[in-house]
Amino acid sequence: MKTLLGLTAALTLTVLAAAAYAQETRPWAMPGEEKVDPYTVAEANAGTGPITDPKVFEAFHGKDGLARIVATTLDMAYADARIGPIFKPFERPRIERTLNEHFCYVLGGGCAYSGRDMAAAHKDMGVKPGDMGALVEILQKAMDKEGVPFGMQNRFLAKLAPMKRDVVNK
Ligand code: HEM
Repeated sequence: MKTLLGLTAALTLTVLAAAAYAQETRPWAMPGEEKVDPYTVAEANAGTGPITDPKVFEAFHGKDGLARIVATTLDMAYADARIGPIFKPFERPRIERTLNEHFCYVLGGGCAYSGRDMAAAHKDMGVKPGDMGALVEILQKAMDKEGVPFGMQNRFLAKLAPMKRDVVNK
């Protein structure tokens, strides 16, 4: 009996350790998310450094406000006649987690970004310059809904704008 209990405990620990390993070191294969090709995790994958003025992340109402903004953005992006067809083939959980991480990192919220670089994440997706405009327009609506002041919105959008060259497929 003791041996059986010991074995069960050891097995449970192994399963927990494996789950922790998966979360920490394999962000391309997270439980409950669509798998993507393995990649090297690096801060540089975010495509820019963080905003250092803490007032900006405060204006987004921290992680909770940001989560609402990302959720509204994705609700609208998936439903949008122009860019919905680009989003629909991809399941939402991974995009939602990595977008929260990415935006939080860029806004200076102190999060680590564990996703791919912008070129790899949008490779062969067929994003056209106008699609970038449509997504920015949606993001602006989501930030308005959260009550983020216009000037703060623009400080964030100015960080994202240069990423267009890696997102748009020529
Ligand atoms: C500066 C603008 C943009 C930023 C900062 C951005 C950011 C991101 C991030 C962080 C990811 C997740 C990366 C990962 O899975 O490792 C992602 C994935 C994705 N993005 Fe963007 N994106 C931008 C523009 C766009 C545009 C314009 C579209 C389409 C109209 C788009 C469509 C998608 C889709 C469909 C995915 C899912 C890819 C997958 O799961 O394999 N993105 N984006």
